Amino acid sequence: MIDSAIPIVRKAVFPAAGLGTRFLPATKAQPKEMLPLVDKPIIQYGVEEVLESGLDNIIMITGRGKNSIEDHFDVSFELERILEEKGKTDLLKVVREISDMLHIAYVRQKEALGLGHAVLTVRELVGQEPFAVLLADDVIDADTPVLRQMLDVYEATGHSVIAVEQVKQEAISSYGVVQIEPWDDKRFSGPVYRIHDMVEKPKPQHAPSDLAVVGRYILTPAIFEFLETTPRGAGGEIQLTDALRGLARREPIHALRFQGRRHDTGDKLGFLQATVELALKRSDLGKAFREYLKTLPL
Ligand code: G1P
Repeated sequence: MIDSAIPIVRKAVFPAAGLGTRFLPATKAQPKEMLPLVDKPIIQYGVEEVLESGLDNIIMITGRGKNSIEDHFDVSFELERILEEKGKTDLLKVVREISDMLHIAYVRQKEALGLGHAVLTVRELVGQEPFAVLLADDVIDADTPVLRQMLDVYEATGHSVIAVEQVKQEAISSYGVVQIEPWDDKRFSGPVYRIHDMVEKPKPQHAPSDLAVVGRYILTPAIFEFLETTPRGAGGEIQLTDALRGLARREPIHALRFQGRRHDTGDKLGFLQATVELALKRSDLGKAFREYLKTLPL
């Protein structure tokens, strides 16, 4: 049930100013968010998740060299005219849908000082409202969009919600890791906990659990106060995780173990796995692609 006293989440923020060094040379002159998974740029999967979750107000945090993201979500008169003239109505529809989808505002993060710093740059645009943050690298294939699963928890509690997933010990130091307390509420799509504390990129022996933060957050605006005073942390960057530790001491934050398959497309192997799995699920490609894979001498 939705409690009318709980402010509504309307805005989704995409930090997209990162340099994408893991994918050089592919990302030398194009943003990593625009690398295609099958036939859609990575960031479009996240944008569609936002729309399917019922939000249509997006704030993108970009930086130098990211103009193609703006162009992608904008109207392309030239392309539309050519497709129209050639009678390619199916493609015209695909191209139009992208620009019709949403309202996007763009903010520039002038220095790459970390995720926490990126989120702080949208303080004025977000205002005193709860908001979502999505890291486009994490592409999550789910029957119910993960952001929707999280909004269900937020709308019932009014508390910040972070998506978490179990990861293997050898991978844990690539993530923010949560220390949780049980929270006995069975209303949601997956187990929900209360976060007691969290650590950014701990050594495996110092990880407080095997539950890693994935790139989906719903945050109350109180996070900005903590971000303002958060010093540089892991990797010399201002970490969102460190600000969240402070917030968790003041108000409850929940961790949701979501339902869905996450692909870390910021990693080369994860990118390849996502490409294969998403292609196999496509109605127009899946059958032929499966047949092809079977012919490989693996
Ligand atoms: C960021 C966050 C980290 C989180 C991860 C999820 O790290 O800082 O807490 O676990 O995203 O993808 P990054 O991958 O940007 O280093």
